[in-house]
Amino acid sequence: MQAVPGHRRDSTSLVALSKSLFVDAFRFCPVVVLEPFTEADFPQLIAWMDSERLLKVCCGAAFTFPLTPEQLRHHLRGANVPGRSETLAYKALDAQTGQLIGHIALDNIAWENRTGRIARVLVGKVPHRGRGYGQAMTQAALAIGFGQLGLQRIGLGVYDFNADALRCYERCGFRHIGTLRHVLRHEEEYWSSVEMSLLASEWRAAQGISAAARGKHPQWQRRRAANAAERNRAY
Ligand SMILES: CC(C)(COP(=O)(O)OP(=O)(O)OC[C@H]1O[C@@H](n2cnc3c(N)ncnc32)[C@H](O)[C@@H]1OP(=O)(O)O)[C@@H](O)C(=O)NCCC(=O)NCCS
Repeated sequence: MQAVPGHRRDSTSLVALSKSLFVDAFRFCPVVVLEPFTEADFPQLIAWMDSERLLKVCCGAAFTFPLTPEQLRHHLRGANVPGRSETLAYKALDAQTGQLIGHIALDNIAWENRTGRIARVLVGKVPHRGRGYGQAMTQAALAIGFGQLGLQRIGLGVYDFNADALRCYERCGFRHIGTLRHVLRHEEEYWSSVEMSLLASEWRAAQGISAAARGKHPQWQRRRAANAAERNRAY
């Protein structure tokens, strides 16, 4: 292949180029699709959560190990009603094969404040990790939260030792807010949680759509009216 005159072709620029193409490809050819997480998905999630440590890394103190259908049932009570529920839980499927890949939730949704959190992020099988699924799942949840539900801030917490999760969320645009020190005890360790957040305006800017253009475009005006009607129906 001919080098383009005036352009340095080194491995760093090639990696950057391939990553930007890969990220752009997400928009046109989704890597994952999110569907509501239901009772039928409990056995797979329980099987993936095969240690107390993993359960705490993903869910903090929300559950006790071993995870059971009863805990999940209790947790999902009242969930998954857009415009009303505090929790919208999703399973992630590979968009090409339909294979079940993982789990992700929008949680702590405060409809009045238009805020929420990303929670319980898991790429289930170890060989599936580090291949872009986590970022694709997070991006898909952000598209629902900001693009469909009209949230204006989405936060999350990640334990400070979880380098791949931190990197995954940074790559999705999340910014560090601070650290909640020693929020969780596991055996004889205390874990600290890094708080991160992303604003709708930052997310839109990263999508290449300016807030002004978005506000004026008839498509967004229709969507905003539909979102408002959806929220009003819930009250
Ligand atoms: C965290 C998790 C969801 C991320 O999903 P994933 O599919 O593995 O992540 P991705 O491949 O999309 O992205 C991970 C990024 O971290 C990088 N990474 C992977 N391991 C890393 C490490 N040990 N140190 C630093 N960066 C690392 C990857 O290279 C990639 O960055 P890049 O796109 O710049 O190359 C997944 O690994 C997982 O389920 N882990 C177990 C449960 C968990 O930790 N959940 C998160 C709770 S907050």
